[in-house]
Amino acid sequence: MPRSRPTSPDTSNAATAAARETYESLSFLSQYLLFHYGTRAEIAPPKGLGHGLDYMVRVVTETVGRERLPKGARALDVGCAVGRATFELARLGADATGIDLSRTFIRAADTIARRGRVAYNAVEDGEVTTPRIAKAPAGVDRSKVSFEAGNAMDLRADLGTFDVVICANLLDRLPDPAKFLRRTKQLVKPGGLLVLSSPHSWLARYTPRAKWLSGKKVAGKVVRVYDGQRRVLEPEFRPLRHFDIEFLLRDHARHFQWGVALASVWRRR
Ligand SMILES: C[S@@+](CC[C@H](N)C(=O)[O-])C[C@H]1O[C@@H](n2cnc3c(N)ncnc32)[C@H](O)[C@@H]1O
Repeated sequence: MPRSRPTSPDTSNAATAAARETYESLSFLSQYLLFHYGTRAEIAPPKGLGHGLDYMVRVVTETVGRERLPKGARALDVGCAVGRATFELARLGADATGIDLSRTFIRAADTIARRGRVAYNAVEDGEVTTPRIAKAPAGVDRSKVSFEAGNAMDLRADLGTFDVVICANLLDRLPDPAKFLRRTKQLVKPGGLLVLSSPHSWLARYTPRAKWLSGKKVAGKVVRVYDGQRRVLEPEFRPLRHFDIEFLLRDHARHFQWGVALASVWRRR
């Protein structure tokens, strides 16, 4: 059984309910299993877009992978979906925990951690699917990985502290991303790392406009992504670097989403 714990009720929050509805669906489950664990041949990227593959691996290797982690490091992957980045954090030696709102995603991630694989059907065209197996990445100690259901807006108080907190493509799905960023100040140990990566595709369905970190004007001035993060994270976090990182998400054989996330790395003072 997944180590899912009850989360505090969040019934009043329509934005969280919208995220829950989207990410509990089986079509999103198969899309994300392919995104996280699919091989190049299974994804079959359109010509010229292959460098968007392996986003979940690169978002770890190009950030945390360039820093030295202490022995016995603890890592947290918030909004982990089906867990690939969590496995990649364990590959770097950390005891890694993945947390996601979707129990459907957490169940699949937990099955991969326990059994090394999970079966699913990748959508090709309408109702036509291909049976696939998502396999735990080779060379990772699966006992270093754990998954639990949880709400980023209301993380359990006894989670403890971490040497790394990573959060990929989550901020623009939260009802109050600044509130989550403020919480990371307690989660990341002094000297530890915070990694944010997001295309910042703001949608009022998930994040009320008043809570967007960027993508709007305040007092006539455009708020840019990085400045929006900086305003919330400083002075407790020191910015290390930020860069663009591409990803390719396959909806079906003839439809892909191409994104360029902004990745940023921060050191807790
Ligand atoms: C766009 S997906 C990105 C998932 C993964 N990190 C990736 O990059 O593939 C957003 C994820 O955030 C999760 N999510 C949405 N709202 C959440 C919340 N309030 N707390 C935790 N996870 C949430 C969704 O279930 C989904 O797995």
